[in-house]
Parts: sequence; structure tokens; C-alpha cells
Amino acid sequence: MKIALIKNGLLMLTRPWLWSVRPLCEQDLNPDPFAQFERWFRRARRSLSLEFPEAMCLSTVRPDGFPDGRLVLLKGFDHNGFVFYTNTLSSKGRSLAEQPKAALTMYWEPLQRQVRIRGTVQTVTADEADAYFASRHRSSCIGAWASLQSEPLRERAELEKRVLEFKQRFKGQPVPRPPHWSGYRLKPDEIEFWQLRASRLHDRFVYTKNEQEKWQIQRLYP
Ligand SMILES: Cc1cc2nc3c(=O)[nH]c(=O)nc-3n(C[C@H](O)[C@H](O)[C@H](O)COP(=O)(O)O)c2cc1C
Repeated sequence: MKIALIKNGLLMLTRPWLWSVRPLCEQDLNPDPFAQFERWFRRARRSLSLEFPEAMCLSTVRPDGFPDGRLVLLKGFDHNGFVFYTNTLSSKGRSLAEQPKAALTMYWEPLQRQVRIRGTVQTVTADEADAYFASRHRSSCIGAWASLQSEPLRERAELEKRVLEFKQRFKGQPVPRPPHWSGYRLKPDEIEFWQLRASRLHDRFVYTKNEQEKWQIQRLYP
């Protein structure tokens, strides 16, 4: 976010962190990384200038060994992990089936905060996926049937034709969850909180689990 300032009669754009950033200190951190995440996420959701505070880059490993990243939306989290929903036959779904390790990265620009989460991924239960699917707008549910996510699409008209076909197929009845659409839960083994500071001397703290499965906090060089 840039703010306009008048200086020597000139309109200047500057960034608020030049004067407003609060340092992130170890004593400010909650010993529980999920509680710490909740505190930051709640703050991000209050930010009027963030349209998608729940947007996060999901990084996966492709079967050919290359990394891949794309945005998805965080749809829930608790001590069991961070949940997102997608097409299980998509490129990301195929990567996760082969290599169920992934990373999530969030950047809340107005707050100058980044969170990185790394761990292993499992599909959510069918009941959980059904409940979330049922809460979606009907048109999104039709879209989940119509889109062969990540497959080549010859022309847009082909997708629109499929939308009409599925609208017709489910006319007058609830849209069931497609078998190829579900959620994934990433169970973290590492969570990092990053707060921007002046001169690129940022504050970074990473939570990792020790051998007794207890979370430990470590400051990192920026
Ligand atoms: C802000 C934003 C949020 C998105 N959320 C989702 C999502 O929750 N689930 C999803 O499948 N795709 C979502 N997408 C689309 C994905 O980024 C991506 O294009 C799609 O999932 C196909 O990815 P893949 O071919 O790597 O599997 C979102 C895109 C943006 C820009």
C-alpha cells in the first residue's frame, strides 16, 4: 500500500512501513503457532484494503520433480491443519497424489506480513467436503462439474456448453459434490512468521516441532 504525502510542494508516494512498523519480538509470539496464525489472520481479515486475506500460494512438487505454485483460498484451519478445496484430478491434485508434501505462502501487503507453512497433505473426509460443497453458491457447484480443471480447453464455448449441460442435468435438484472435487488438509511441521522492517532487516521466526512433538521457536536472519 502506498500513501500520498505532500513534501516541498510535491506529491509523493511512500509506504507506511517507513515509519509505522512494529517490530516482531519473540515475547509477542504465542507459543502455539496456530494461535499465532489466528491472531495475524484475524488482523488481516479486518484490513479493508485486502480483498482476499485467505489467498495463499500453494506450492506442490510435480511428478517430474519441478515445483509448481498457484493461489488457492484458505477455507478453514485448526490444530489439525489448513484446509483448501479443489479438483482432485487437476494438476495440483495429481501432484499431491504422487507427492503429498506442500507449502502455503500468504502475504498480507497492507500489514507487511508473510506466513510460510510447510507440511504433509491429506484429503479431508467425504462428510467435510460434502458440507463445504453444500455451502457454495449453486453456480460454483455447477462450475465444479463443468470444469475439467487443468486440461486443455479448445475454446471457451466448449466450457459454456458443459455448464449448460450440467445445469440441465441437475435442474430442480441439489447439485451433488462431484467425485473429483474435495478438500485437502495440510498438517504443518513448520510455520514461519515474517514482519517487514526498514532496510530489509526484517523479523523472522520459525516454529518447528522437536522430537517430543513440541513446537520450538527460532529467530532467523532476514
Ligand atoms: C485469489 C485466487 C484464489 C483461488 N482459489 C482457488 C481455490 O480455492 N481452489 C482452486 O482449485 N483454484 C483456485 N484458484 C485458481 C488456481 O490458482 C489455479 O488456477 C487452479 O486451481 C488450477 O491450478 P492447477 O492447474 O495448478 O491445478 C484461485 C485463484 C486465485 C487468483
